[in-house]
Amino acid sequence: MPALVLLGAQWGDEGKGKATDLLGGSVDYVVRYQGGNNAGHTVVVGDQKYALHLLPSGILTPECTPVIGNGVVIDPSVLFSELNGLNERGVDTSKLLISGNAHVITPYNVTVDKVTERFLGKRKIGTTGRGIGPTYADKINRVGIRIQDLYDESILTQKVEAALDGKNQLLTKVFNRRAIEVGQVVEELLSYADRLKPYVADTVLILNQALEDDKVVLFEGGQGTLLDIDHGTYPFVTSSNPTAGGACTGAGVGPTKISRVIGILKAYTTRVGSGPFPTELFDEDGEALRRIGGERGVTTGRDRRCGWFDAVIARYATRVNGLTDFFLTKLDVLTGWEQIPVCVAYEIDGKRVEELPYSQTDFHHAKPIYETLPGWSEDITKAKSFSDLPKNAQDYVKALEEMSGAPISAIGVGPGRDETIEINSFI
Ligand code: GDP
Ligand code: IMO
Ligand code: MG
Repeated sequence: MPALVLLGAQWGDEGKGKATDLLGGSVDYVVRYQGGNNAGHTVVVGDQKYALHLLPSGILTPECTPVIGNGVVIDPSVLFSELNGLNERGVDTSKLLISGNAHVITPYNVTVDKVTERFLGKRKIGTTGRGIGPTYADKINRVGIRIQDLYDESILTQKVEAALDGKNQLLTKVFNRRAIEVGQVVEELLSYADRLKPYVADTVLILNQALEDDKVVLFEGGQGTLLDIDHGTYPFVTSSNPTAGGACTGAGVGPTKISRVIGILKAYTTRVGSGPFPTELFDEDGEALRRIGGERGVTTGRDRRCGWFDAVIARYATRVNGLTDFFLTKLDVLTGWEQIPVCVAYEIDGKRVEELPYSQTDFHHAKPIYETLPGWSEDITKAKSFSDLPKNAQDYVKALEEMSGAPISAIGVGPGRDETIEINSFI
């Protein structure tokens, strides 16, 4: 019963989409377990490029069953437009399964996300504005709307009333906005019910039966470890648990079933939105990483903040996720630098610190301590095995592996499916 978790080891956009798609051929089910359409995964197949937000990246592999688990939040209108876009390009999406327990991102959740950010002003989180935080807040406050509620008009109406009661007070009295009408929301939500119906299933039962039957199940994290609500750089995080434990709660599979946890790790670091980022670069090197790496958000189109590799963060990701492997991506982007600095520890208030500080204040004060590794200039995009890499690139990978605390089992040398060096097999 091989159950693999694949997740981001940094602040997201590590290349999870490519890695999931790559494994898709040997996997029976690919499951999203948290987040929503805040995710943006780019998958390049031959000369075709796909941008996925809510759908699991396994949707592009015909043999694979894509699953949206109970821990995900779903904006049905976004789901439909993503499905339509794929169907128009000839992708069969009929095998998709959606948990009836997944929560719905309602139009008022999107409104609340946007007005809250506006009111936070310069303290804003820099959310994607997709209603993610307010939908999870409703879930925890027990006033959320679940997919299964769309099939009982009376319950749905009661739940929307309960959810809007307080929100309308806030919208009209604090945020100076118009109140949202219950009837209008109910009508919109009901209009999604028929099209969703064929996909809705008891995904917990199906996935556990699949594992009993020795099928291969891959759980795909939506964001990165440092964006995790519990283990990330709170409050500059997303409102769910992309870390490995989230796969268990977000899909209804026990931790004893998980056999491997793969951390996707970019050969340098990026982040979107606000929050601390010790190795961030504000010079021409940062600009070059952004340009060469194509570091622009798939969901919001925002430029990503760029910096050198941070081994303190990689070690932390190994620890909180129990990583068994790393998949190192975008090594090719570093080609051409004579020297490549790597952050090995932080200096905080004059002291050397080897591990991520638990205090937010300390992390805000962390200054990177760099070791500089020699770079390479040879094109590595055609490399098929580790020995095809120039010696300095091999040494860079080995140094990162040693600092990060888990074996690097694959290396990305380009965005395409075949631009990957496989070192240890994942399945
Ligand atoms: P995700 O959110 O983790 O799925 O990552 P994104 O898709 O947002 O960002 C990763 C970007 O890097 C995408 O444009 C990928 O096509 C691209 N990519 C992934 N792996 C590699 C790699 O090894 N080399 C290069 N040059 N690009 C890569
Ligand atoms: P993928 O799947 C990068 C960031 C947002 C913001 C914070 C909270 O492509 O790795 P939210 O809308 O989730 O409430 O925003 O989280 N964020 C991401 N950053 N990649 C992502 O997804 C992200 N999803 C959310 O920029 O800082
Ligand atoms: Mg992304």
